[in-house]
Amino acid sequence: MPKQKVYVTRARVPEAIELLRTLFDVEVWPDNTPPPKNVLLEQAAVNDAMMTEVDDVIDESILESGKGKLKIIANRGVGYNNIDLNAATACDVIITNTPGILAEACADMTFALILSIARKVTFGDRAIRNGKWTVFDQVPYLGTDVHGKKLGIIGLGDIGEKVIKRSIGFEMDVFYHSRTSKPEIEEKYRITRMGFNDILATCDYVSLHVPLSSETENMISSKQLSMMKKESFLINMSRGPTVNLDDLNAALESGQIAGAAIDVTDPEPVPVDHPIVNNENIVITPHIGSASKATFTAMGIAAANNVVAALKGKDIPSPVN
Ligand code: DGY
Repeated sequence: MPKQKVYVTRARVPEAIELLRTLFDVEVWPDNTPPPKNVLLEQAAVNDAMMTEVDDVIDESILESGKGKLKIIANRGVGYNNIDLNAATACDVIITNTPGILAEACADMTFALILSIARKVTFGDRAIRNGKWTVFDQVPYLGTDVHGKKLGIIGLGDIGEKVIKRSIGFEMDVFYHSRTSKPEIEEKYRITRMGFNDILATCDYVSLHVPLSSETENMISSKQLSMMKKESFLINMSRGPTVNLDDLNAALESGQIAGAAIDVTDPEPVPVDHPIVNNENIVITPHIGSASKATFTAMGIAAANNVVAALKGKDIPSPVN
């Protein structure tokens, strides 16, 4: 009997590809950029499974093309806003993600961003590389304390909780905004639930950890930025479209807020000629919240395990539809 066929859209996690190759006939898109739409349309029609990355756009037409043959699309990521979930369900294609793996790495990265922007880490590094550190003078590098400050977490899921754990070491006062209240977490970490606008008006560090949806898209634009304190910082670890980049740039230029540190942008990659790239009061990283080697690899293996389970008729570890 011919082996079932799996298409992998990037050669990024060799351990996951090797695992799939032990069982299936595997083809891998060779480039580092997402396969073009015509390739995805063709591959969806002839494969039993696809393993995708979070920047592969899987729309209705691709799912329609896979209808009848394609059983599963295993996204290597906890987010799956790149996939039309309703169309997938209508076409009988199972979608899976990789939850429960990246929270620690993303929480580490959240603090990397907070500390970098508050204590001018990348600013100082740039100064040295550009030959500007010519006299021992700390004045240009004076930053803002992190310890003892107010941290506002928007979206309290796994990552938010791990950020709270880390904030205890920094003796921060933590507030959170979430659609549902989390009394156990409030009690466990002595944190306080607050309205979204109150968090913006009160906190020194406002950190976004929400999934992208119609409710969260553009949740930070000029109106919300104008509610923040002049000495406050915005941290974005969620998805780029939650923050309006032009409005953020305007708020940084006018001094409406003290700074921002963002791991995600809209679009990605951020165009190098966008004015925000040259703003000294922002740290921008290339969507690497989950990108420790161990976490990255584990997410690949988890995606591959979803494929194996679906094609072998076993319980699927993490379906989302
Ligand atoms: C995710 O898992 O959704 C991350 O954003 C990408 O690794």
